Amino acid sequence: MPDSEKTDNTPVIELVDARKIYRMGDEDVNALDGVSVKIHRGEFIAILGPSGSGKSTMMNMLGFMDTLTSGKMFFEGEDVSAIGASKRAWYRANRIGFIFQAFNLLPRLTVLENVMLPLTYSRVSRREAEERAREALSRVALDHRIGHIPSQLSGGERQRVATARALVNNPGVVLADEPTGNLDSKNVARTLDLLRSLRDSGLPVVMVTHDLEVAKATSRVVSMRDGKILEDYLQ
Ligand SMILES: Nc1ncnc2c1ncn2[C@@H]1O[C@H](COP(=O)(O)OP(=O)(O)OP(=O)(O)O)[C@@H](O)[C@H]1O
Ligand SMILES: [Mg+2]
Repeated sequence: MPDSEKTDNTPVIELVDARKIYRMGDEDVNALDGVSVKIHRGEFIAILGPSGSGKSTMMNMLGFMDTLTSGKMFFEGEDVSAIGASKRAWYRANRIGFIFQAFNLLPRLTVLENVMLPLTYSRVSRREAEERAREALSRVALDHRIGHIPSQLSGGERQRVATARALVNNPGVVLADEPTGNLDSKNVARTLDLLRSLRDSGLPVVMVTHDLEVAKATSRVVSMRDGKILEDYLQ
């Protein structure tokens, strides 16, 4: 879509009848079974549902980690349903902030280096990468820990490093798969505050969670069952 036709109402991401079928021997697994959803700026969405209902599969689609079997996906108004691997890698590096449950920090790199890492895949000088990593770390209040390695951090601090890493490329959306799963209640609250502040700055946040209390912190709940959306409501 030309920029002139884009409005503030253009969803950041839209899935239209999205399907993902994994073929396992002679059996098909309908991991996503006709999902249609629109995600706008300023939204904080919880994806709920039992184990195996398709939550991670949907997040992987939204994050350009995997491709649909059928259906359509639009990102910032562009049809990205059929783009190739290198274009998907570009979106991952430039438009997506992903926070993984296990945080996926590299153990031998410092906090600063871990946060700089995504920028090594984009055309950013080392000096600018370092500047942006410092900025992202200050957004999560970790300025004082930049020289530590992950094993020298608390669980909550590791989570914040993972969040800073997700923000450093200035993404169009933050996707978080169970970001509070490994945290105590104080750090859960802190993480939710941080994600809410991202949402308040306009950046949409999509978060998978098993925890109904955590889902209450969001503004919209999408619940999944057997690869389908069961409920989708504002709260
Ligand atoms: N690579 C794969 N190959 C085959 N089947 C898969 C693959 N990935 C996921 N599945 C199947 O697709 C379905 C959805 O999986 P998914 O990981 O999206 O579930 P989930 O809702 O994230 O579950 P959990 O809460 O346990 O993380 C499951 O039945 C799963 O076994
Ligand atoms: Mg999952």
